[in-house]
Amino acid sequence: MASTSTSTSTTTLYLLHFLLMFSSFHCQLTFAFTSQDYHEALEKSILFFEGQRSGKLPSNQKQTWRGDSGLSDGSSYHVDLVGGYYDAGDNVKFGLPMAFTTTLLAWSVLEFGSSMQDQIENARTAIRWSTDYLLKAAVTTPDTLYVQVGEANMDHKCWERPEDMDTPRNVYKVSDQNPGSDVAAETAAALAASSLVFTDSDPTYSSKLLQAAINVFDFANRYRGSYSDSLKSIVCPFYCSYSGYKDELLWGASWIYKASGNNSYMEFIESNGHLLGADDDSNFFSWDDKRPGTKILLSKEFLEKNSEEFQLYKAHADNYICSLIPGTPAFQAQFTPGGVLYKQSASNLQFVTSTTFLLLTYAKYLNLNGGAVSCGTSKLTEQKLIKLAKSQVDYILGDNPKKMSYMVGFGERYPKNIHHRGSSLPSIHEHPQKISCNYGYHYNSLGSPNPNVLVGAIVGGPDKHDNFSDDRNNYQQSEPATYINAPFVGALAFFSAQPTS
Ligand SMILES: *[C@@H]1O[C@H](CO)[C@@H](O)[C@H](O)[C@H]1NC(C)=O
Ligand SMILES: *[C@@H]1O[C@H](CO)[C@@H](O)[C@H](O)[C@H]1NC(C)=O
Repeated sequence: MASTSTSTSTTTLYLLHFLLMFSSFHCQLTFAFTSQDYHEALEKSILFFEGQRSGKLPSNQKQTWRGDSGLSDGSSYHVDLVGGYYDAGDNVKFGLPMAFTTTLLAWSVLEFGSSMQDQIENARTAIRWSTDYLLKAAVTTPDTLYVQVGEANMDHKCWERPEDMDTPRNVYKVSDQNPGSDVAAETAAALAASSLVFTDSDPTYSSKLLQAAINVFDFANRYRGSYSDSLKSIVCPFYCSYSGYKDELLWGASWIYKASGNNSYMEFIESNGHLLGADDDSNFFSWDDKRPGTKILLSKEFLEKNSEEFQLYKAHADNYICSLIPGTPAFQAQFTPGGVLYKQSASNLQFVTSTTFLLLTYAKYLNLNGGAVSCGTSKLTEQKLIKLAKSQVDYILGDNPKKMSYMVGFGERYPKNIHHRGSSLPSIHEHPQKISCNYGYHYNSLGSPNPNVLVGAIVGGPDKHDNFSDDRNNYQQSEPATYINAPFVGALAFFSAQPTS
């Protein structure tokens, strides 16, 4: 027991300390994150993917509240579709967003892996969890790609932990008869981009991924059509391909060209680009629309090698970037009063993280040859792009009007009631008895914070007035998704390697 006098002086010290902190907080106009903060956020952003895992969990699983799930996925169809990721707060494995997530995780490693330090291995593991699954989905049956496990309408009617799932694990596929060039070409992109991630660390696996990418792209290209037509009631409105399949064909060919160096893909891009959206300007890069990403990716060919064939893509990449930068003639983007890019009320941060990633990637490519962005008569340097990207990253991490982080488990204040079945129900290890489909809603209505912290999850985010309600039923704002996190991994790696002032 401490004496009274000691505890009095301790209290005085605490008070002093508190006053000092308080005053310095008030002098500080904005949050100043350090490289260590970005590195911590990077680590968490990758850790998030462990919470989304389907299949048999390894012994080194760090999101320890999760257990094995979906161990017989595919079995009633005589295919092994165990593994992969749940897309968001539910328990369905959707192929299109899973593939896009994988492409963006791989692209993050390709551009910014050299800044990831001790996280590079975790990033590769997160990619491999998905590519192992995509390989099964792509190579098991010729001219067939398995694109979904679980039926969304039935899954969404239950509030169940993945470990307890008892809703139908229906398997859906695209084939020569029922094409799905969008999901197939995105899968090709994911496999090709990932093959580049493993070139040095696992060359055998890398070749396997590239071969599968080539085959699935060939399938996507030969049997053209959108999976939203072939599997309409299954994939719509959840991950309906609103932009069609052309953007994915160009994107998939671009990644295979990059991964294989085979000129026949360059010829494909040259002869089909105009038909596949090379001339369209589109301002939001997402699991649906690959056009802005393709423009940025192919610009590198122009900037690095001055290949005339790709000049078109540099011009459109410039248009895209100009549309985001206030003050340029082409400026079109909308920002909240607090400064975050705003497109829509549901899951808006997916556009913030994907845009941030493209800004930083383009800044890097421009830097390769001293290039600049042409916006009408003005030229923007890469610094301008980095500055905008930093404002978006900092907003997500807590520099915003709500003074809260939108990454779970990062900072002092973050969402505690995320729309996520596994996170909001007691862990299977704490409560081994089954929690049934309907009974889960009972927990949901208790009004207490989620018992399991899904560390690293970035939620849908605030509305256009920077308001956020930390409410489990408000899925538009409080649901995380793998494709919100994936591009953020690259952005955080970039800032973790910048000197902080
Ligand atoms: C390049 O790709 C085409 C189309 O997939 C293929 O037919 C050809 O054999 C490949 N060339 C090489 C050198 O691998
Ligand atoms: C933001 O949320 C607060 C608290 O819920 C509310 O009072 C305010 O009206 C909201 N502002 C806008 C612009 O919606």
